Amino acid sequence: MTVHSPGAPARAHEFALSSSNAGLEALSSWRELPRVQQPTWPDEQERARVFSELRTAPPLVFAGEVDVLRERLAAAARGEAFLLQGGDCAETFADSTADRIRNKIRTILQMAAVLTYGASLPVIKMGRMAGQFAKPRSSDTETRDGLTLPTYRGDGVNGFAFTEEARRPDPERLWRMYTTSAQTLNLLRAFTSGGFADLREVHAWNKGFISGPGYDRYEQLAGQIDKALRFMDACGADFDAIRVVEFYAAHEALLLDYEEALSRIDSRTGEIYDCSGHFLWIGERTRQLDGAHVEFLSQVRNPIGVKLGPSATVDDALRLIDRLDPDREPGRLTFITRMGAERIRDRLPALVEGVRDAGAQVAWVTDPMHGNTITASNGYKTRRFTDILDEVRGFFEVHRELGTVPAGLHMEMTGDDVTEVLGGTGEIDEAALEQRYETLVDPRLNHQQSLELAFLVAEALDQH
Ligand code: PEP
Ligand code: CO
Repeated sequence: MTVHSPGAPARAHEFALSSSNAGLEALSSWRELPRVQQPTWPDEQERARVFSELRTAPPLVFAGEVDVLRERLAAAARGEAFLLQGGDCAETFADSTADRIRNKIRTILQMAAVLTYGASLPVIKMGRMAGQFAKPRSSDTETRDGLTLPTYRGDGVNGFAFTEEARRPDPERLWRMYTTSAQTLNLLRAFTSGGFADLREVHAWNKGFISGPGYDRYEQLAGQIDKALRFMDACGADFDAIRVVEFYAAHEALLLDYEEALSRIDSRTGEIYDCSGHFLWIGERTRQLDGAHVEFLSQVRNPIGVKLGPSATVDDALRLIDRLDPDREPGRLTFITRMGAERIRDRLPALVEGVRDAGAQVAWVTDPMHGNTITASNGYKTRRFTDILDEVRGFFEVHRELGTVPAGLHMEMTGDDVTEVLGGTGEIDEAALEQRYETLVDPRLNHQQSLELAFLVAEALDQH
């Protein structure tokens, strides 16, 4: 992760780590604005205490890394790279174990290998990881058997158990969110620089999975990559470039208390970076132009994503660009569309055209998950794999017709064999949802479904 290609030299950055807030005061302007989806912390003193502790804690990511990522995303927006962004809908403290984290990283590495090989494009690897602990919810409360409690807002806010105690927002959880993110990043950095992510391990990443069409197809591809690498080896190639990989951390910047507390000034340039993650996005429910989230993120240097659902207009998109990317800086802004398979071919063209005609350059990324959520007849919140594939196809079709650039894929996935999404060659049906449904919020692609999706995207990219 701290590895930079020759074209993008690493820069030594220091941070103002003292408890001095000098230069960061302006960042609290969001507090004056309408804000949605924030927890009501029951104890203001507790919140303020945790806030100031986080304010003096070491940053999780560094300005130099964030700057390199911005350059990578600029390349994706030009069609010279492809962003692969995936992970849980909601990370949990309990599941932030070494095995689960490794499985997610491994799956993203496998998908990236499929994409890089299939489409001959560099892939920017990014986890919805090390910070994805807060969720926007459609309702503030939940009622079960006559008892009404605050809704679960992610482990960074409250507990999932349906008890008064668990559901009470607890600022101490923000601290735990920070330490769990630090642990996750530590592992991530070790895996991606310690040899695990070496492309020569392409076969090893597939070990331990039962056979299935997705795995078999991957094995074949791994064989081809292996052969190509042996050929290169015989030619005397230098493998340093594939021994380590860049891997970035991203999450929805939902809890503004946390994001503000983790922001630091780059002592070299005096600019502000939100050091809770490399890439931060604004959700579909918090992208109000005059709201707190847009205000906050307009002030930090990180590359920013904004989710755009089916109701987004060209005017919304243009005004978001003006607020978040007034200088039209390459790589600064990514629009992550989540229209739903039925609507993408209808809604996306006008947005892409409107933005293009206004001369703005953003990276267009598809999230084929959040517009395709349904409830199964047995009550499970799920998605059909066919709808997910269909939205991805629609995304590529639209960009092909307009001659614009499909820059990436954003998805909810896990490296484990869960049964949360219907379909795929593993043929998960409604009854099978009961076998291994583990997500606390949205359903995730399992390991095999993720690989299948990667093959589809590789084909679409190759034809583009
Ligand atoms: C999410 O990414 O988990 C999410 C809530 O998405 P959206 O903001 O697009 O609804
Ligand atoms: Co989700």
